[in-house]
Amino acid sequence: MNILIIHGPNLHLLGRRKPEIYGTATLARLNSEIKKHAAGLGAKLRVFQSNSEGGIIDLLTANASWADALVINPAAYTHYSYAIRDAIEALELPAVEVHLSEIAKREPFRRISVIKPVCRAQFKGEGPLSYFKALEFCASLEKK
Ligand code: DQA
Repeated sequence: MNILIIHGPNLHLLGRRKPEIYGTATLARLNSEIKKHAAGLGAKLRVFQSNSEGGIIDLLTANASWADALVINPAAYTHYSYAIRDAIEALELPAVEVHLSEIAKREPFRRISVIKPVCRAQFKGEGPLSYFKALEFCASLEKK
């Protein structure tokens, strides 16, 4: 199974961005753990990070025919990007939304996800484990 991973804006700052919320691991470290986990599941990955809404939509479009599933942490776009929501819906990619932090227990604006309705599942609040669970969910889709 081919899984497309997209990290949204500011996730390139992991490691120095609010470690009390996002942990101390860098994005490179997170990606290497994600890759190890995916290898254990027999999945192939393409992993990207983008700080722009259009950049994320272009990545989705360019990789949609390769990918069997999408794991996306839309970061702040989670809360207001109807454009990313529409792209996921239009491309008909089975998508899973992930967050390192527990967005339901933070500022009120983070409690809304406009992306969730176009995703098969949402994993949040468990740091890197949120991504691992999303990969496992994708792998389980293949078996159905
Ligand atoms: C985040 C949560 C978002 O609210 C925030 O804007 C992020 C990261 C998370 O992984 O916890 O950038 O998506």
